[in-house]
Amino acid sequence: MIKKLDHLKKLITDEIEDQKYGSCPAELYEPIRYIMSLGGKRLRPLLTLIACSLFKNKVEKIVKQALAVELFHNFTLMHDDIMDEAPLRRGQPAVHEKWNRNTAILSGDVMLIRAYDYLIDTDEKYLPKILKLFNKCAAEVCEGQQLDMLFESRSSVTEQEYLDMIRLKTAVLLGMSLRLGALLAGANKVNQKALYSFGVNIGMGFQLKDDLLDVYADNSKFGKQVGGDIIANKKTFLLIKALELAGGQQREELDRWLSMKDFDPAEKVKAVTGIYDGLGIKELTEQKMNEYFDAGFSSLKKVDAPMQRRSLLREFAQILIERES
Ligand code: IPE
Ligand code: IPE
Ligand code: MG
Ligand code: MG
Ligand code: MG
Repeated sequence: MIKKLDHLKKLITDEIEDQKYGSCPAELYEPIRYIMSLGGKRLRPLLTLIACSLFKNKVEKIVKQALAVELFHNFTLMHDDIMDEAPLRRGQPAVHEKWNRNTAILSGDVMLIRAYDYLIDTDEKYLPKILKLFNKCAAEVCEGQQLDMLFESRSSVTEQEYLDMIRLKTAVLLGMSLRLGALLAGANKVNQKALYSFGVNIGMGFQLKDDLLDVYADNSKFGKQVGGDIIANKKTFLLIKALELAGGQQREELDRWLSMKDFDPAEKVKAVTGIYDGLGIKELTEQKMNEYFDAGFSSLKKVDAPMQRRSLLREFAQILIERES
């Protein structure tokens, strides 16, 4: 199984290495080569290829479309790091730090355009369908990102609002990546939808784990700034639960940190993490994450493909549950 995953990942990384994206002006294209060379899990294009492999033996023909998904994802990261004022990405300076904000905006824009260049390399029979699928998802990601930013300055956000927000900013892209692979493999609508639903569910679990890692990851493995969400008052599942459960002095302390304008970031991260620890927030988040992964596994059972091929997706999801970065 792992061998099969490695093989699919190599198809993607080889294709990425071959890409130039453009040459002049170098300041526009260099940041693209930079972010694309920093690695990352390549999770979304892998999902596209795995979904295709459920129904077809050869997946090489759709590597370009899988790459479109990865380019789109990296474009969102480039802009997300500006929005989140994040200094680090994949263990290296974020593009807006290494160059500047304007460069990160424009290079991000051209990445999105390149993503369409890869997509249009598709059989005419499928092209309108995949463009519709891709565009619906891309607009939803923007909606989710806007909600995420709006929530930063809101004093209270409900659990349901948070779940709706992460479905948009993160989960639908995993769902779409899978559906794209299935569609291009000629799978029927029922199978496409079941895979989409599997992807959205594991995407929810994936973002819950991302929120968890943002607080509890090992600095040497994470590749992003640990505590960034706490510093920015992000309304993560962890903070929402803490606001729900903290009482008395703990609640006062939490409110004080949330409203403080001038603070030492390390001190804030330490104090808020201490409050989370006292309330058992890590365990509650893991529980919620597992619920979504389980829901994903139920959707997967509805996919009409050989059990052995489906189990590749199951194992892949398991890797996501256990990941450390
Ligand atoms: C980061 O995605 C953004 C989220 C949706 C949480 P990944 O964790 O997949 O980032 P890379 O591509 O592996 O770096
Ligand atoms: C990112 O959410 C979602 C998108 C990039 C669309 P985060 O802001 O939590 O992602 P990271 O933690 O910076 O990777
Ligand atoms: Mg963000
Ligand atoms: Mg971010
Ligand atoms: Mg995050």
